[in-house]
Amino acid sequence: MRSLPYYCRGEVVRGFGRGSKELGIPTANFPETVVDNLPGDITTGIYYGWASVGSRDVHKMVMSIGWNPYYKNIKKSMETHIIHTFKEDFYGEILSIVIVGYIRAEKSFDSLDSLITAIYSDISEAKEKLDLPEYQSMKDENFFRPIENKIMNGH
Ligand SMILES: Cc1cc2nc3c(=O)[nH]c(=O)nc-3n(C[C@H](O)[C@H](O)[C@H](O)COP(=O)(O)O)c2cc1C
Repeated sequence: MRSLPYYCRGEVVRGFGRGSKELGIPTANFPETVVDNLPGDITTGIYYGWASVGSRDVHKMVMSIGWNPYYKNIKKSMETHIIHTFKEDFYGEILSIVIVGYIRAEKSFDSLDSLITAIYSDISEAKEKLDLPEYQSMKDENFFRPIENKIMNGH
């Protein structure tokens, strides 16, 4: 995919709330404008990369882009699961992400358990891939340090 790595940021908005409640795997949703700005070659599917909330630590993430066929959503979404345990929700904060690689296509499952198993396998794949040196360097890029950048640039 030509557009990878793809960097973007946006406010965390409320999704359907199923991620935490039904799956036990919380996901952060982006507003429609961020979803609409995705380049055409970033197709629907499951991706991995790095994520940071506000200007806090950068963590590994997995992301689902699409219509969640298991739930038959009507609106396309970008949902990020940050591989880190947060003490509190962060709705309204700015989430910065870089998508670095593709894992698989979105699909429907015959049970919630199979969907959960698939997501856990995506998480292990993401963790492993992101340890590669070419991806490790991406989490240190200036994109994730907006405040320090401003100071360095004298603003
Ligand atoms: C890594 C990852 C993989 C996913 N894979 C699928 C999938 O293959 N099919 C699907 O219907 N939904 C998939 N989902 C989306 C979940 O169904 C979704 O996170 C859940 O509906 C929660 O949505 P909500 O935050 O809007 O409540 C995936 C989510 C993540 C984070």
